Amino acid sequence: MDFTTRFSNHVARVEGGIDRLLPAANLHPGRLHEAMRYSMQAGGKRLRPVLLLAAAELFDPDGRTDPLPAAVAVECIHTYSLIHDDLPCMDNDDLRRGRPTCHKAFDEATALLAGDALLTHAFALLAKSYRSSPRLAVALGGQLAEAAGTSHLIGGQMLDLLYEKSPDVTGEILNQIHVRKTAGMIWAPLVMGGLIGGARPPAIETLRAAGRSLGLAFQIVDDILDATSDAATLGKTPGKDAKAGKATFVTLHGVEASRRIAQEQSAAAIQALRSLPGDTSFLVALAQTLTTRRK
Ligand code: IPE
Ligand code: IPE
Ligand code: MG
Ligand code: MG
Ligand code: MG
Repeated sequence: MDFTTRFSNHVARVEGGIDRLLPAANLHPGRLHEAMRYSMQAGGKRLRPVLLLAAAELFDPDGRTDPLPAAVAVECIHTYSLIHDDLPCMDNDDLRRGRPTCHKAFDEATALLAGDALLTHAFALLAKSYRSSPRLAVALGGQLAEAAGTSHLIGGQMLDLLYEKSPDVTGEILNQIHVRKTAGMIWAPLVMGGLIGGARPPAIETLRAAGRSLGLAFQIVDDILDATSDAATLGKTPGKDAKAGKATFVTLHGVEASRRIAQEQSAAAIQALRSLPGDTSFLVALAQTLTTRRK
């Protein structure tokens, strides 16, 4: 099976899981559950849940433990982070995944609560879906909490705001912000997939290292796309970073050097992925697409 078909199959599986594992839209209070589904079912590349499915498949090709609930949990956290990232008190964005942002389609309080609800739902899903393997459930919850918490996603978002417009941002600081705010949610699905597949600790650490580099490359490309792409392609408003006066890889290094750094990080990730046992071709191909992506 070629890469595109495998990728679409994983995405279809994720979309099915999202539909099945989110609270029904008509469940009381309907407005909240509608808002959760509105943002979750707006499309999106589904990169993180696909990484999780692919990592699980690498170590457990027979699929003895179902990785889908964990994949949906990761997408819940990612989507919550986007809903909150778009709020007027943060990046103040109107467009996300080709649609009005959650607070535009509903209202700010509903968007805040829909984000809270997705964050909470992610951990409920893990606890419920993996309860017959308590050690696995605890490990998955621990990894996801770490990646989503103050040492990564939330801490990174705080630094992103604290350093917005600051003239003191160095390459080192920006690296740290990007690794925290974005790479956490790239290594977490790789590590969680590995745990579900029964990977040994050294392989888990290789997945974490690969995800860290890949996540940094991913955010560098996001910075480049913000500066160079258009709304129709991106499904979100471009030029927001410049408008906010934000220090990004592009403002610090320029587009060409940023592309080169993203390529270097991606190459490091690919080298790590290739060192894993089994057929890593899908994960490697997926990593390769991320530096040349157009959205
Ligand atoms: C956007 O992530 C936020 C960043 C970390 C750059 P994606 O580019 O993966 O967004 P979706 O999920 O495809 O909408
Ligand atoms: C961070 O980056 C996104 C999160 C960690 C939620 P951006 O603020 O650049 O993401 P976009 O460009 O709005 O998707
Ligand atoms: Mg932001
Ligand atoms: Mg943003
Ligand atoms: Mg951005």
